[in-house]
Amino acid sequence: MSPDIHIFDTPEDTARAVAELILVKAKEKNKSSLPLNIAISGGSTPKLLFTILASDFSESIPWHFIRIFWVDERCVPPTHPESNFGMTFNSLLKNVPIHEANIFRIQGENDPQTEAFRYQTLLERELPIKNGFPQFDLILLGMGDDGHTASIFPNDMSLLHSHLSVSVGVHPVTGQNRITLTGKTINQAQQVVFLVTGDSKADVLKEIRHHKSSSAKFPASFMHSNNEQVEFYIDKAASKGL
Ligand code: 6PG
Repeated sequence: MSPDIHIFDTPEDTARAVAELILVKAKEKNKSSLPLNIAISGGSTPKLLFTILASDFSESIPWHFIRIFWVDERCVPPTHPESNFGMTFNSLLKNVPIHEANIFRIQGENDPQTEAFRYQTLLERELPIKNGFPQFDLILLGMGDDGHTASIFPNDMSLLHSHLSVSVGVHPVTGQNRITLTGKTINQAQQVVFLVTGDSKADVLKEIRHHKSSSAKFPASFMHSNNEQVEFYIDKAASKGL
């Protein structure tokens, strides 16, 4: 199924649209007194989203109904400048009334294989299971200019088909270990949304959108939700060529 693409003028407009989506979904779950189980990505793109959530949505979103998990984490301590948790804490978590018990940090300081198993066990305890994999309500993904997503890189496509829910990825340039959700876990989510901005991502997005065969080298092109849909929230710069 071709991706559903939402295009906005600026990175700020794009991030704000994703913030509004989170607000709507949280309120929907709130009506049934159920938590919103959301897995978020790291990197630089979501930092703007987190800043907007903290500044403009701290009172409108029912934060006590939000349970935050991570799509992936670098194998570094939470205080390390490359920590996804550290970035999220500083830009969002310390600024909103989310319960600490509802923050499920991947412990990047642990041994990678041990942590992958711990986090997998936690997900299987905390989330409903769909087709043998933990199911999130919403997964927010980013995409690298090499077409990676989560910490599933083009040189390790096996993570797309792993029978594990969580595994260890390795950054192809730095060799840094990463803890990551696997492709099958991501694709079981109720909703999968990419937040992608900037002209460095335009070529990959164009291939994913128009060239199914040549885009098979990009892990991002294999992502979809449980009902096969996937949505891209992108800015004009990233939409060049669509
Ligand atoms: C990470 C992310 C990763 C990210 C892409 C895009 O831990 O880095 O989970 O998948 O989404 O690398 O990163 P940018 O937003 O920095 O371009």
